[in-house]
Amino acid sequence: MKKDLLSEYDLERADFESIFEGAHRLKRLLREGKEHHLLKGKTLGMIFDKSSTRTRISFEVGMFQLGGVSLFLSNRDTQLGRGEIIADSARIMSRYLNGIMIRTFSQESVEEFARHATIPVINGLTDLLHPCQLLSDLFTIIEKRGAYEGLKVAYVGDGNNMANSWINAAAKLPFHLDLACPDGYDPDVAILKRGIAEAPAGVVLHRDPAEAVRDADVVYTDVWVSMGQEAEREEKMKRFQGYQVNRALIDRAKKDVLVMHCLPAHRGEEITAEVIDGPRSVIIDEAENRLHVQKAVMAILMR
Ligand code: CP
Ligand code: NVA
Repeated sequence: MKKDLLSEYDLERADFESIFEGAHRLKRLLREGKEHHLLKGKTLGMIFDKSSTRTRISFEVGMFQLGGVSLFLSNRDTQLGRGEIIADSARIMSRYLNGIMIRTFSQESVEEFARHATIPVINGLTDLLHPCQLLSDLFTIIEKRGAYEGLKVAYVGDGNNMANSWINAAAKLPFHLDLACPDGYDPDVAILKRGIAEAPAGVVLHRDPAEAVRDADVVYTDVWVSMGQEAEREEKMKRFQGYQVNRALIDRAKKDVLVMHCLPAHRGEEITAEVIDGPRSVIIDEAENRLHVQKAVMAILMR
């Protein structure tokens, strides 16, 4: 595995598998109350330029459970937030810390940070990608279905960071990915093109959500207005009508479909409360798995 986790596309199939195996083992050890201090004495810096509930808590708690400590570095408090350049920040932080998690806007900033850092850098979400979430989603699917091979995942909604991450994963792993996005809200063009060209099982972009979810094993959605897009809210609310994951839509998927959402959700917008709280939803397990999967990622990269 590479030094950093910046994109799912940097992972080979064997890397995905070792993360999933590690997560499975660490989850069991935690459940059994057994100590697993794989990162004893190690430190993780967590740079946040955007809000977070799950990512912050799961990394912080995960680091504690692994025997290390974490530092919450909000852009309101660091010199990075006042304009100290990325290269200097990355080099200095590498002298204090054993790993860095970054949640920010541009993917390029995270990549630049990683180029200058001598320690592992983990992407905790950018406007382009959300690899930690994607790994937890796939791990959840494996837990619920035994495997992802041959399954059909339908992504309905905005062609955002989650959609791009799903396409990257489908470029590497043999599951079918059918997306439905409104015209003008497609995933990243380069990622989509590459995904369609390279996906072992296939990536298809639809306009009609009903087409995308037909016989799907997993129906996935995410907010219509991502962090940083608040000004587009009114326009997006109009353009995304018809893309809601509701009872009528999931009835078109397989009977035992798994409904997934990275959270936070806007109930009544991209998904109904009835579906999110319904029997097909696995979103709470999915959120819990952020902890186990990220612990595995940190243990692999930072040991
Ligand atoms: N899904 C996710 O990353 O949640 P947070 O924004 O709460 O971290
Ligand atoms: N697409 C969402 C995901 C939040 C975890 C956002 O970027 O805000």
